[in-house]
This record gives sequence, structure tokens and C-alpha cells, in this order.
Amino acid sequence: MPDTLSITDNRTGKTYEVPITDGTIHAIDLRQIKTSPDDFGIMSYDPAFTNTASCRSAITYIDGDRGILEYRGYPIEQLAERSTYLETAYLIVYGKLPTQRELDEWTHNITYHTFVHENIKKFLEGFRYDAHPMGMLVGTIGALSTFYPDARHVLDAESREVQTHRLIAKVPTLAAFAYRHNRGMPFVYPDNELSFCGNFLSMLWKMSESKYRPDPVLERAVNVLFILHADHEQNCSANAMRSVASSRSDPYSATAAAAAALYGPLHGGANEEVLHMLAEIGDKKRVPEFVKKFKSGEGRLMGFGHRVYKNYDPRAKIIKRTADEVFDLVGRNPMLDIALELERIALEDEYFIERKLYPNVDFYSGIIYQALGFPVEMFPVLFAIPRTSGWVAQWREMITDPEQKIARPRQIYTGGRGIDYVPMEQRKTAPAAEAVAAPR
Ligand code: ACO
Repeated sequence: MPDTLSITDNRTGKTYEVPITDGTIHAIDLRQIKTSPDDFGIMSYDPAFTNTASCRSAITYIDGDRGILEYRGYPIEQLAERSTYLETAYLIVYGKLPTQRELDEWTHNITYHTFVHENIKKFLEGFRYDAHPMGMLVGTIGALSTFYPDARHVLDAESREVQTHRLIAKVPTLAAFAYRHNRGMPFVYPDNELSFCGNFLSMLWKMSESKYRPDPVLERAVNVLFILHADHEQNCSANAMRSVASSRSDPYSATAAAAAALYGPLHGGANEEVLHMLAEIGDKKRVPEFVKKFKSGEGRLMGFGHRVYKNYDPRAKIIKRTADEVFDLVGRNPMLDIALELERIALEDEYFIERKLYPNVDFYSGIIYQALGFPVEMFPVLFAIPRTSGWVAQWREMITDPEQKIARPRQIYTGGRGIDYVPMEQRKTAPAAEAVAAPR
């Protein structure tokens, strides 16, 4: 049997054969289905891309029903246990685990680029004391493009290589500077003798000591958290990265757009929302009352549910273990008890079972971040740092893919047509418009 789909158009009685490749039909093949020669042809309608593959990708594999996540074919569980973030970033970007020499060279290249131009500090100082660090990060990542005009040569492999190093290396520095700005503390320059994660902790927490020595348990926990967040195939921010970069804008501008997408409460901002939610619940005893509210559609149980995972989020399992290790060191976060109770009750509840709603990675990551002393505003920033390697990999794959073009979806137009311009004095104010215009 050939791998084709037969489609009969009941409007015309005509039948069409459409090839199926990789379990997918090409949406453009539908355009031949017309009622007359001047008919535009059929389009597929898929708001929010719930059933549309926008690319071919060899970076991240997810099987949402089985709870499987693999980077370049390597299971997330093995990477979280045995790899470091920087090695995983290499794997994600280049598609293979590095040899010792390749890893040394990669580590050197990233380390070499951790410093940012001194003027970046001036931008950061210009933000209000209470500016959201994610807003600062989005702004300063975008600003990097002005320091590296060579980045616009996106079709030049050598240029892509340098921007890859710069982006992965500089985002932690920008993130730490944003954090220190919020705290009113002096910026700490990168310490290139430390590991990628150790240096990040140093830039966050170094005070008057001549050398910051990261606690190995914390350094490992940060590595695991970073590995878990490094990529997640075509999520909202990866799609933003690809979409913006498809116009061949430079990778700093595209990464700023991706970080902006991550900022939203339904994406990377969810871990921040989880903590707000747990604080609002305040006590284990109030969990049933809140679960009832979420079921009635009054707000969402943040950190629950996922577009792809309909069984469990494998990252949530790993992160729970990391949480225990961190709590052994820094003390238990009292929010954990509320979270555990919330998870227990929700997982027994018909509403959540029926809709296949399970804890996602954000449900526990925020609790760890808070135990480590981070304010909630830093949570999406801590997500953006490791996701930078995923964004960069998605960008590199997109830009070298001959099947890709500038991203430009179609629409179903629902507005009026050919309406004659009405002079101002003849216009009537519609009641709805009046309500908007009324002073409050
Ligand atoms: N709490 C309560 N009900 C929920 C939740 C939730 N967290 N998530 C989904 N539902 C319900 C919806 O109301 C809907 O119910 P209905 O069928 O009766 O209308 C049903 O489950 C399906 O929900 P959708 O919104 O269609 O699912 P979608 O795949 O579009 O959304 C999303 C996925 C955005 C993650 C959603 O589950 C959500 O808002 N979760 C909370 C935010 C969150 O944790 N985001 C982090 C995602 S992971 C990440 O970005 C790293």
C-alpha cells in the first residue's frame, strides 16, 4: 500500500491523492483542492499549532504519552545524572557528545566570552531598582546585537560559531548582573577559573571574599536544573526564536524575542506563578478549597498540565530528587509541603485525571530556586540561561535547513470588505467604543 491519503471533496466529487511522509501531509498539498480554477484552494486551520509540524528537527525528541525526553537521542535521565550543563549544551548544539579535546576547546571558547562590554553595565544601571530581571535580560540580550554587528551575517558559518559562544557565555553574566542590580549590590565579574555553573553562582553571591568557592552540591544542582531546561523542541520560545530568525535578523535580536516569549506565565513564567499560588494557598489545609477553584475554571493550577506531556513530565521526576538534595543542604522550603499536598490531591482528582494534567518541570523548580534564596522574579531568568543553548541550536538548524523560508502563516479573514471611507463628522460612535473611551 502506498503511503498516501485519499481526500474526496464533496463539493465537487473529486478525489485527490496526497503523499504521507513521516506520518505527515504537506499542508501545501491541500491547495490543489479547489472548486474552480480561480479558487484559492484549501488551507489547514491550526491556531496555536496544535497539530502542525513547522520543521524537521534532530535536536530534541519528546514522546508525550510515554513521558520520554531525549536530547539528540540521549535520555534526559542519563544526561541529568552523568553530564554537565556545558557538555549537554555542546551535545544540543553539535548533535554529538564531545571528545575530551572538543569539550576542552568548547569550555575554553565559552569561558573566553563570559565578559560583557562595560557599557552593558550602564544600561543595567539605568533600570529602576525594582525592574523585573527578566525584563532587564530581554532588553540587554537584544542590546548585544549593537555590540556585535558581525552577527548579522547569519549565513556565515564562522560568524554563527562566534555568536553561539557569545550567547551561551554572556547570558549568565547578564542574568547575574540583573540580579545584583535588583539587590543594589555591585556587579561581580566572571571568574573564568570556575566551571560554567560555579562561575554563575560566584557572579550571584560573591561578597568580599577574594575567591568564591561554590558548594559542590549546589553546583551540581544548578548543572542538573540547567540540563533539564536546555531544550524542549518546538515550544513557544523556540518557535519565537525560529520565527524571528527566519527573517534573517541577528541571533541576539531573535534570542531576545525567544526570552520575551519565555517570560509569559504560561511558559517560563509559570514557575514564578507556582510560588505566588503556593503563597496564596498558604497552608496545607486550604489545598482542597483551591483545587475546587481551579476545577471550576477560576484560575489554573500553575505548574500543572503540558501541551505535549500527557502522562508525566520526566523533568519533574528528576527535579524532585534534586530538590531533596538541595533541601538537605539549605533546609526544607515550607512551600514543599503545600506543593506535595497539592500534587497528591490533584493526582487523585477526576478532573485532573481526565484531562491528563500532571506536574510539569515548573512545579518543583521554583521551590528549589526559592530555597536557594532567589526572589521569584529570578525564576524565569534561571530558565532562560540554559535554554539559550536550545534556542541557539534551533536557530542554527533552521538557518541551514533548505526547506525553511521566512515564517509567514496564513489567516482566515473575518473582517469586512470594500467599505467606503467615512468622513469624521458622519461617523457614529458604537456603544462598545464609547465604553472604552469613557474616562475611568
Ligand atoms: N489547571 C486547571 N485546568 C487546566 C490546567 C491547569 N493548570 N491546564 C489545563 N487545564 C484544563 C483546561 O481548562 C482545559 O479544560 P477543558 O477541556 O474543560 O476546557 C483542559 O485542561 C485542556 O487545557 P488546554 O488549555 O487546552 O491545554 P493546552 O495544551 O493548550 O495548555 C498549558 C497547556 C498552557 C501548559 C496549560 O496546561 C496551563 O496553562 N498550565 C498552567 C501553566 C503552566 O504550568 N505552564 C508551564 C508549562 S511547562 C513549560 O513551559 C516549561
